[in-house]
Amino acid sequence: MATTIPIRPAGSSATARTVVPPGATLTSLPPLSVYVHVPWCVRKCPYCDFNSHAMPAELPERAYLDALRADLEQALPLVWGRQVISVFLGGGTPSLLSAAALDELLAMLRACLNLLPDAEITMEANPGAAEAARLRDYAASGVNRLSLGIQSFDDAQLKKLGRIHDAAQARAAIDMAQRAVARVNLDVMFALPGQDLDGCVQDLRQALSFGTEHLSLYHLTLEPNTVFAKYPPEVPDDDLSAAMQDAVEETLASAGLQRYEVSAYARPGARCRHNLNYWEFGDYLGLGPGAHGKLSFHDRIVRQARLRNPESWMAAAVARDGTHVAENRSVPSDELPFEFMLNALRLKEGVAASSFTDRTGVSLAAIAKRLQTATERGLLDADPARIRATPLGWRFLNDLQEIFL
Ligand SMILES: C[S@@+](CC[C@H](N)C(=O)[O-])C[C@H]1O[C@@H](n2cnc3c(N)ncnc32)[C@H](O)[C@@H]1O
Ligand code: SF4
Repeated sequence: MATTIPIRPAGSSATARTVVPPGATLTSLPPLSVYVHVPWCVRKCPYCDFNSHAMPAELPERAYLDALRADLEQALPLVWGRQVISVFLGGGTPSLLSAAALDELLAMLRACLNLLPDAEITMEANPGAAEAARLRDYAASGVNRLSLGIQSFDDAQLKKLGRIHDAAQARAAIDMAQRAVARVNLDVMFALPGQDLDGCVQDLRQALSFGTEHLSLYHLTLEPNTVFAKYPPEVPDDDLSAAMQDAVEETLASAGLQRYEVSAYARPGARCRHNLNYWEFGDYLGLGPGAHGKLSFHDRIVRQARLRNPESWMAAAVARDGTHVAENRSVPSDELPFEFMLNALRLKEGVAASSFTDRTGVSLAAIAKRLQTATERGLLDADPARIRATPLGWRFLNDLQEIFL
C-alpha cells in the first residue's frame, strides 16, 4: 500500500515520517534531471494520449510562466544544492512558445537550480509549429538538442494521423533544426494504418537521409481514451509489425545507429542523456501540468505528479498552497525492485548490478530468488555484474518485468 506523506527536505524534522513503512536507505543520490511539460498543441492528434490539449485562441504564456515559477520555487527545497544534468521541455508542443517565453523559462531554471554548464537541454518541436528564426533563438537561449515529431514522410499517412504538417514541412523543419543545433532527434512511428513493409522502410530511409545522431522509432499503439481507440483504424497484424520492427533495427544498424533502448537508436556518444537518466533510475523533478517526478532522499524515494489540467495546475501553482501537486507518495521498498526493472530492463545493455542497491536502497539479496527465476527462464543474462535482459527477455519484456512485481 502506498503511503502519502508531506514532502520536506531531507534532514528536516518530520513527525509525519513515523507512519512511513521502512523504505530506501541511500548512501548517495543519483543524477538529477528536470522535465518541464508544455501542455498545448495546435490540435490533438487522434492517436495521442499525452497530456496535451488543443490550444486556446491565444497561448496563455504569461500565466504559464508565472505558474511554472511558482511550481519551481515550491519544489526547490526538495532539490536544494543538487546539480542538474539535463532539462527536457516536452509536451504537448513546446515549440509553440515564443522565443522570449522560452528564454525566460530557461533563465528561471538557471537562476533557481544548479544547472551544469554542459547540461543537455532538449526541446520537443512539431514541424507544423517550427520556424527557422525561432529555432535559432531557442538555441541562443540554451537549447542544445531538438526532438522533432516527424512520424512519417508519407503525406497520406500524415493526414490519417491528423498531423498539422505534410512531408515537405517535415523535411524543412529537420533542415532548420540541424542549422540551429548540433543534436537532433527525429520521432518516427511505424505499424501505421494501412502501412506495408515497403512503406515502413521508405520512411526509415528518408529519416536516415538527414544523418541525425538519434532516431526514436515508436510502434503505433492504440491508446485507450483516444479517437483511434474509439474508431480503430486498420493496422498491420502482429507478423507484419514484427517484420517492421526487425527492418527498423537492421536498417538503422547498417546506417550506424545502434538500438540502445526499446525505441531509441543513436550513433556512438549520441544517446539521450535525459532519457538515460530515467532508464537508469535517476531522479527527475517534473514541473508543469501532469508532470511526473521521482526524487530520492537518504531515507526514501518519492514520486510526484502535478495536476493534469493546465488551468487547474496554473491556478493551484500560483496559490502556493501545494495543491498543484496531485500525488506525493513515498514508494515502499517492496515496490522499488519492479520500478527499477521497469526502467533498467528497457536498456539493451542493461545496467551494472551494483546500481540496483545504489538507486533503490534495497539489497540484491532481497531479489536473489527472482533474479534466479528470470535467469532460469532464459529471460535474464547470467552475468552477475549486470542486470540485462537476454534477447528472449527483451522480446517478452513484460513477462520479465512482471517477475519483479
Ligand atoms: C509528446 S510527442 C512529441 C512531439 C510533438 N508533440 C509532436 O507530436 O510533434 C512524443 C512522441 O510520441 C510518439 N507517440 C505519441 N503517441 C503515440 C502512440 N499512440 N503510439 C506510438 N507513438 C506515439 C510520437 O512519435 C511523438 O512524436
Ligand atoms: S502534436 Fe504531439 S503531443 Fe500534441 S497531440 Fe499530436 S502527438 Fe500528441
